[in-house]
Amino acid sequence: MNSYDINLEKVPTHIAIIMDGNGRWAKSRFLPRTAGHKAGVEAIREVIKESQRLGVKHLTLYAFSTENWKRSIAEVSGIFKLLVTYVNSELKELVENNVKVTVLGDYRQIPSDAEKSLEKTLEATKNNTGLRFNIALNYGGRHEIVHAVQQAVSLARQGTLTPEAVDEALVDSLMYTAGQPPVDLIIRPSGEQRISNFLLWQGAYAEFVFMDVLWPDFTPGDLDRAIAEFQRRSRRFGGISS
Ligand code: FPP
Repeated sequence: MNSYDINLEKVPTHIAIIMDGNGRWAKSRFLPRTAGHKAGVEAIREVIKESQRLGVKHLTLYAFSTENWKRSIAEVSGIFKLLVTYVNSELKELVENNVKVTVLGDYRQIPSDAEKSLEKTLEATKNNTGLRFNIALNYGGRHEIVHAVQQAVSLARQGTLTPEAVDEALVDSLMYTAGQPPVDLIIRPSGEQRISNFLLWQGAYAEFVFMDVLWPDFTPGDLDRAIAEFQRRSRRFGGISS
């Protein structure tokens, strides 16, 4: 047990975070929105360290949704620039810390320098066995399901998939998270309380923890608080408590 009464034996296997509130953080300081995203990257560094310390196995961060293209060109290009700076500066440490990076989403549609930096990162970390760090990028839960159905139809057309062979395991294997466990805990800071098209399949039985802190102010202690709250919940998966 530590100061937040976390039981280290019952830390959620898969934590996902909707990093919200960067814009409001910047606005309250009379700064451009990109400054909020920059401060948000600092919070990411700390949360990764804390996840490793606690033994979290899978961490998924919502970095850019399929809907975020509606933002100004300046903001969108600012986010991708930050992503490039982050992966380039962090690559050595990610490799040394045995972190395996995965992208959830159609990242081939993002600016080419970001795509290249990410591919380098995926390649350099692919054999790592520690924390699985999923970056949800150009990600949308509905888009992911459409993509999975397209793959299934294509397999059926080739004659390698019959309707009877379609079950939950098959659908799961067609998701961007193939081979990874479902999400146990979804954390949304910034006071908003909605799912925003995030991990619709994987989060079917996730516990939600909503917090008032804005993402750039999110600390390792906030992660601990969310986990402590998760551990107080009774997860029944549609059944009844034993
Ligand atoms: C949501 O806050 C945040 C985003 C849409 C972008 C998050 C991206 C980063 C922190 C940088 C890149 C990521 C990585 C993995 C290095 P908001 O802008 O919607 O905030 P608001 O609701 O206050 O306007």
